[in-house]
Amino acid sequence: MAAHKHYTGLITRYRDRLPISDDTRIISLNEGNTPMIKLENIPRLIGKDVTIYVKFEGLNPTGSFKDRGMTMAVTKAVEDGSQAIICASTGNTSASAAAYAARAGIKAFVLIPEGKIALGKLAQTLMYDAKIIQIQGNFDQGMEIVKQIVEHAPVTIVNSINPFRLEGQKTASFEIIDDLGTAPDYHCLPVGNAGNISAYWKGYKEYSISTENHPAVTNKRPVMCGYQAAGAAPFVAGHMIDNPETVATAIRIGRPQSWDFAWAAQKESGGWFNKFSDDEILAAQKLLSQHEGIFCEPASATSLAGALHDLKHGNIPEGSTIVCTLTGNGIKDPDIAIKQCADAKPITIEASLDAVKRAILDSI
Ligand code: F0G
Repeated sequence: MAAHKHYTGLITRYRDRLPISDDTRIISLNEGNTPMIKLENIPRLIGKDVTIYVKFEGLNPTGSFKDRGMTMAVTKAVEDGSQAIICASTGNTSASAAAYAARAGIKAFVLIPEGKIALGKLAQTLMYDAKIIQIQGNFDQGMEIVKQIVEHAPVTIVNSINPFRLEGQKTASFEIIDDLGTAPDYHCLPVGNAGNISAYWKGYKEYSISTENHPAVTNKRPVMCGYQAAGAAPFVAGHMIDNPETVATAIRIGRPQSWDFAWAAQKESGGWFNKFSDDEILAAQKLLSQHEGIFCEPASATSLAGALHDLKHGNIPEGSTIVCTLTGNGIKDPDIAIKQCADAKPITIEASLDAVKRAILDSI
């Protein structure tokens, strides 16, 4: 009988392009290998001849793209003998760190801004049994504390300032090129701490370099478009900001750690940054759910809000192939979703055939 081969995660798949040795114990939850879904209805609705794919990173094991970086960061932390990891987080990094720590059998400490992380992310992080430390401050303040704490406690930082995080995350670009056979013309991403846009750009650049077991794949590179929430848009302002504010709590960040890398991605790719209001972000989130059946979290929809804006204003020409990364799953933030649909409340009726029949005929 032929050996049964199943997908075992991005480190195994792209091992020759990652800093992993043969005897490294790999901490994996079979992350990566996420679908590229071609939008079928939205291009028609906006009347544009364009090909838009969404890379649905919300289908990773903990529901966000963070798992790509975390499998690498935790694998390397364990290889290094670390017994505990730490991160500051707006929610997704903490959930991912907690899950991979559980898998590895080590401890996770997470610093989160009190009252500012989505309910699903809190629930996950509790279930994975991390030590949750809520601070009376925002992500940027948490990040500053985490950077200092490593001098005082035996913990490994697994925020994206840990270079292994970007190593793992760059594999998303490899997958896109493997799927499309080449890079897209434009790549649209939400930008918060700016690790992800930096990692994608690294991945696109590296896939034109041959490795021992893996030939160079393409020289083509996309234009990188980084989109922020209007109240948390330091790249659009051109400087770090205090007191960032947005409904998209995942990207409620004013002092991005990968500042220089992200500017390099923008400049080298001929791309740009732009910002969108909370209303525009939520409208894109709803559009995607209603017309494509794809439910991402608010921050993730910023990539589509940006792509649609830049198509409308001619910054992205018709005929282009665009990839929008949907960074996290919509189920993570039930509060915002339910609030958005306040006018579509479920109806309650008696439990009879007649009542249900009337309810259906009334809405046809
Ligand atoms: N989208 C989601 C859903 C996120 O959780 C984040 C970042 C981003 C986009 C932005 O990515 O920071 O690489 O520019 N979340 C971090 C966290 C900050 O703590 O979960 P970035």
